[in-house]
Parts: sequence; C-alpha cells; structure tokens
Amino acid sequence: MSMEEEIQKRKTFAIISHPDAGKTTITEKLLLFGNLIRSAGTVKGKKTGKFATSDWMEIEKQRGISVTSSVMNFDYQGYRVNILDTPGHEDFSEDTYRTLTAVDCVVMVIDATKGIEAQTIKLFKVCKMRGIPIFTFINKLDRESREPLELLDQIEDVLNIETYPMNWPVGMGKRFIGILDRYHEQFIQYNGNEEETYIPFDQLQQDKYRDITDNPTYQETIDELELLEGAGDEFSLDRVLQGEQTPVFFGSALAPFGVQTFFDTFINLAPAPGPRKTETDVVHPEREEFSGFVFKIQANMNPQHRDRVAFIRVCSGTFTRGMQVKLARTGKSMKLGQTQQFVASSRDTVQQAYPGDIIGVYDPGTYRIGDTLVEGKQTFAYDELPQFPPEIFQRVTAKNVMKAKQFRKGLEQLVQEGAIQLFRGYPTDSIIVGAVGQLQYEVFQHRMKNEYNVEIMLESIGDRIPRWLKEEQVDPSLFDERNMLVKDRDGEFLVLFKNDFALRWFADKYPEIELIDLFEVN
Ligand code: G4P
Repeated sequence: MSMEEEIQKRKTFAIISHPDAGKTTITEKLLLFGNLIRSAGTVKGKKTGKFATSDWMEIEKQRGISVTSSVMNFDYQGYRVNILDTPGHEDFSEDTYRTLTAVDCVVMVIDATKGIEAQTIKLFKVCKMRGIPIFTFINKLDRESREPLELLDQIEDVLNIETYPMNWPVGMGKRFIGILDRYHEQFIQYNGNEEETYIPFDQLQQDKYRDITDNPTYQETIDELELLEGAGDEFSLDRVLQGEQTPVFFGSALAPFGVQTFFDTFINLAPAPGPRKTETDVVHPEREEFSGFVFKIQANMNPQHRDRVAFIRVCSGTFTRGMQVKLARTGKSMKLGQTQQFVASSRDTVQQAYPGDIIGVYDPGTYRIGDTLVEGKQTFAYDELPQFPPEIFQRVTAKNVMKAKQFRKGLEQLVQEGAIQLFRGYPTDSIIVGAVGQLQYEVFQHRMKNEYNVEIMLESIGDRIPRWLKEEQVDPSLFDERNMLVKDRDGEFLVLFKNDFALRWFADKYPEIELIDLFEVN
C-alpha cells in the first residue's frame, strides 16, 4: 500500500461527552463493529463490576496508580480507526484537552433528555475554538427526550456552530419508530431489537409501508422535516471540515439504534490526517521522513515496572520500530526502540505506524509534553501545545522542610511535564498550583510521594477566575486573599479572582485596569 493510501485510510478521533451521556456504550458498539470485542455488555457494566475496555482510568485508579486516557485502534471497512479516549468530568484534567491536539476530529455525544450540560461546555468550546471538526451524536432517543429542534438550537447557541441533521427521529421514547436518514434518503425502522430495516424514501409510498406512513407520529415528523428543509442550513462537508458546521445524528447507543449508520457515515466523512504547523512552516503527512510530537506522558502504567510512557502522534512519514530520530528540543539523536501501540489494556508492539497513528514509547525521563521527534537531517519543532485554563488552585508546601531540595525538583519536573501549572504569590513568593480538574491534584500528590519521596500539603484556595494584567498597571496594594496577585511561570502578573462577583466588582471599581482573559473561549 502506498504512503498516500496509508494516510487516507486513517481516521483518528476522540469521543467527548458529559459523563453518563453514553460515551462508553457507544465506544463499545464501535469496538464490536471493529471486532475488537465479541459481544455487548462484556466489557461494560458498572453493575456487573466489569469495565469498558476504554475505561482503564478506573482500573488504574483502583490499583492506586496514575491516570490518563487510552488509545484504541481497529480496522473497519478499509479504514484504520484510532479512538483516543478522554476521561469524563470527575477525572477531567489537562490531559483531556491535550488529547484534542492529537486528533483530526471529535464525536460529541449528547444525552437527548438533557441537552448540553454545563460542565462539558468548555470542552466542547475548546474543540470549536481550535477548529476541530465536530460530529454530533444525540443519544437516548429511546427515552422521552427534549425536542430535536430545541436540541439543535442549543448546540447552535452554545457553540456558535451551524447544525445539519443527517437524520431526523420519528417519535421518541415509546413512540420512537425510527429515523428519516436525510443523507442517504432512506427510512430506518426501529424494530425494538438489534435489527434495523432500511427503506429507501422512494419506496415508502408503497402499500406495504402503510403502517409506517399512516402513523400520526410519522406524519408530524414529515411536517417538521419540511420546515427544516426550508429554514435549515445546507450540508457542506467543507464547512464541517473547517469546524463551522456539525452533522448531527440521532439514535440510541443502548437500543442500539442508529449507531451503525452514524458510524458508517462518519467514517467516510471524517478527515484523514492533514498538515500540521511547525514554529516556522507547515509539514504535510506525505513528507517522507518521520515526525511526530508528544502529547501526553503517562507515569506508572504498570505498577510492577514503574515505567513512563510518552504518547506520540505520528504527523508525517513512516515510523519504523528501532529507527533513529532526533529530539528537536535538545538536538540529541535517539533510537525509538521500545514502542507500543495501544489497544486499551493490552499493549501490542508496533512495528510500523503512519500519520494519524498514536504510538507509545518507553520514557526514561527524556521527553516533555509538546516535544517533537524528527527523522533525517532537517530538524523542526511543531507548534507548542496550548496551555489550558486552570480553574482550581491550591497552595502547596512540603510537609518536611528538610526535603526542600526534592520538593523543588519534583515540582519543577511535574510542571515541565504538564502535570500541573505553577504560580507564585506576589510579593510573598508562596507556591500555588493550578489545575483543570481535581484529579490532577491526586496524581500530583501521589507522584511527589512516590517518585520524589516528598509528602506535600495542599491547602485549597478554591475555584478561581484568572485574569492577566499589564505589568505597568500592577498595584499590589489593590489585592488581597480575595483577589490574589500572583505571577505565572513566565513571570507575567495575574489575579486569581475569588468568583465572578469579585471580578465584576473589581472591573467596575477600576475600569482603567485591563483584565486579560488568556483563555477566552467564544
Ligand atoms: P458515559 O460513558 O458517557 O459515562 O455513559 P455510559 O455509556 O456509561 O452510559 C451511562 C448510562 O446511560 C448507562 O446506564 C447506560 O446504560 C445508559 N445509556 C447509554 N446509552 C443509552 C441509550 O441510548 N438509551 C438509554 N435509555 N440509556 C442509555 P447505567 O444504568 O448508569 O449503567 P449500566 O448499569 O447500564 O451499566
């Protein structure tokens, strides 16, 4: 197979959703399609005490070790599918955001009974802001749900994105009889089991389908759909790929219904790996020489070995096991020997990988998040990975003052690795760490103790709203515990506001002071 064919067959994406929207159930269906598992319910089920193959976070937690998202891959209809798992809200961390830098598109799963839920808005918005193509699956149509039109309106409002319903549900809950598949011009009938019947639109008028077409719910839906045809946006794959329109699919992961048609359509429309920006240029996946970047480092995946694994997204060329590459940051040559490709908990050794694939390499402490690896003479670095808005802040000190040296070393390394963000109080110089999710603190504490032998004390200063200041406008006398003045790791000043009210109060009182939101997501 040619390089171009290898690239074109790769589909690398993440499934993002609010916890309980059905991500695990859908992932399981996709793994079934890919023959990675044999039957539904074998890997999933909180009640049965088994875990989804993708849920290895939970397993890791139970073993008391570190945390992160996994990667699954399988072949489907001639494509190589790479699914990057992202942890749900409780386990949410910067890893979740960083995973988004390694995918070519996302599938956003929404619970039809709830719509977009507050906690996940930011995650969805980050995708929109970064221009990542978003495909939407609205799940749980087998239940009484919110009106489809209302759900579309909400997506459009919250994400500022056009929606294009690829199909439209006929009824919901007990009245649910199927979906009108606009894209393929067919009605897909729900039979109450895993069987689905496909009836092309132009055959629906036949007498034998009278039980469908005479159904009042069907009639209502046809009327609704006509309205939609008149008022809605046209489907545009270009706009989808630019992240300006999201194709929306309705269905039920549990029934299951509509998942197959969703996946078959998605897999054809989803983008293949594209070019990526470097600090000075753009690199195309067809570039002959291998290049990739580290988007995640995971410590202690196997408690017996205390190893660290760097996750690398292949961006160009062919990766071959044992190849020589250069680490752009240091210019040092190294051999990529111990590599793995992940199928959840079982790790297969990978011999070759292509753009879009994710490989894991054993990391003796060499790599940092955002590092670029390049084959050949010419060295370059991919754009730095973005930092993401920290929300929870804590003051941190070593329990034992005699351990100051280890404390500093551990802190420095974990900050470099991107496990946590560092701030210094001003003028007190106290150490404050910031994170996107609570779990990052557990990991931070655990790793400081296990890897650096330092017990730390964390004192919460709560959820905060960070706003950066211009240096010439900084007046330390205006700040206190409530609105705390700190410096970030680049030495820039920022204020950690206690809450929205405190922020607004300050902005009203000192209108001349510019408050900069570095992470503004619109
Ligand atoms: P998550 O990974 O996004 O957190 O969601 P997950 O798939 O675990 O699903 C959350 C709950 O919603 C599960 O029920 C699951 O069975 C249910 N669910 C998923 N898809 C559908 C659907 O299409 N229709 C309906 N009615 N329910 C759905 P649970 O009782 O919490 O777990 P379990 O006992 O089924 O394991």
